Amino acid sequence: MTAPSESFLELRDLRIHFPTEDGLVKSVDGLSFKLDRGKTLGIVGESGSGKSVTSLGILGLHKDGRAKISGEIWLDGEELVTASQDHVRTLRGKKMAMIFQDPLSAMHPYYSVGSQIVEAYRIHHKVGKAVARKHAIDMLGRVGIPQPDRRVDDYPHQFSGGMRQRAMIAMALSCDPELLIADEPTTALDVTVQAQILDLMTDLQREFDSALIVITHDLGVVAELSDDILVMYGGKCVEYGSAEDIFYRPEHPYTWGLLGSMPRLDREPTERLLPIKGTPPSLINVPPGCAFNPRCGYAGRTRGRSTSQVPELLETEGGHLVRCHLPRAERRSVWENEIKPMMEST
Ligand SMILES: Nc1ncnc2c1ncn2[C@@H]1O[C@H](COP(=O)(O)OP(=O)(O)OP(=O)(O)O)[C@@H](O)[C@H]1O
Ligand code: SF4
Ligand SMILES: [Mg+2]
Repeated sequence: MTAPSESFLELRDLRIHFPTEDGLVKSVDGLSFKLDRGKTLGIVGESGSGKSVTSLGILGLHKDGRAKISGEIWLDGEELVTASQDHVRTLRGKKMAMIFQDPLSAMHPYYSVGSQIVEAYRIHHKVGKAVARKHAIDMLGRVGIPQPDRRVDDYPHQFSGGMRQRAMIAMALSCDPELLIADEPTTALDVTVQAQILDLMTDLQREFDSALIVITHDLGVVAELSDDILVMYGGKCVEYGSAEDIFYRPEHPYTWGLLGSMPRLDREPTERLLPIKGTPPSLINVPPGCAFNPRCGYAGRTRGRSTSQVPELLETEGGHLVRCHLPRAERRSVWENEIKPMMEST
């Protein structure tokens, strides 16, 4: 193992592979990033790019499965890949918590919403049931559940989708986790509720100076709240930079595609500007060279390297990283002279 990380969270070359009958699924394949307290990282990529596997990996939720995990996950000075399952379990809740993609799967159907928050809270706080119940009601109120003193005794199925999502957020936040991972926290919700939930998460993050990871397939969701953005494709980071880098100076053809396919407020939700052609790669038989090459309109400009050599993730400028064989000057010129004008005119 290398030297301990000085960042609050740091992933070093994390790999999470699943052996299956069809072959080895390389869901996360060499992912590295750092995140400090008080900061928000957006992780963006299409379905199947490895976003949820990464978050479950950080929380240690692959430890009891058949996943093969390598690399390092440093959280506040502790390495978690080599830590025991029991130890990582004790860190869940207070140290790190996750808002899951599907609230029904994260909540137990046979216990009331309130009792689940009470349980979660009492694992980490030595308080009586009455105090914990009051805290649960407070939390439900803070996430915008009306009449929380009555709704606290409802079961998950008695809540609407939006309410369940809020309740899950209340549960995740009830112990003021130092690291909060929100995995597609808003996809099932309408636009107004989405905005409220995202505002709420950033408010609480500021209050507790926690580190926040927001995972989404839609760049628009993380535009305003992220400090940094990591673009994932086929289990790897293809571009990493500040939100400004990603929105104003993107250099990876896949990021251009994501920006082009962002839903826009002035359009019908189904109307996308420039959808990315083709489908995400197989994670068992990843295309040779750059995994994006079958879908990339620029692969022909790299003298065959796109189909024969895996591009490295290299710094282009000031912490902005790009994994692409196109020369830097050409990437910048394509963005300025071809992509940006096309997006502005559509
Ligand atoms: N337990 C598992 N066994 C085998 N393959 C798995 C397992 N869990 C996930 N995968 C595969 O890993 C890949 C990445 O999955 P993941 O859930 O991380 O995608 P995602 O980026 O979160 O996508 P979405 O946007 O649809 O949520 C997928 O191809 C998925 O089928
Ligand atoms: S390496 Fe080639 S295929 Fe991959 S993104 Fe760059 S130009 Fe496209
Ligand atoms: Mg997912």
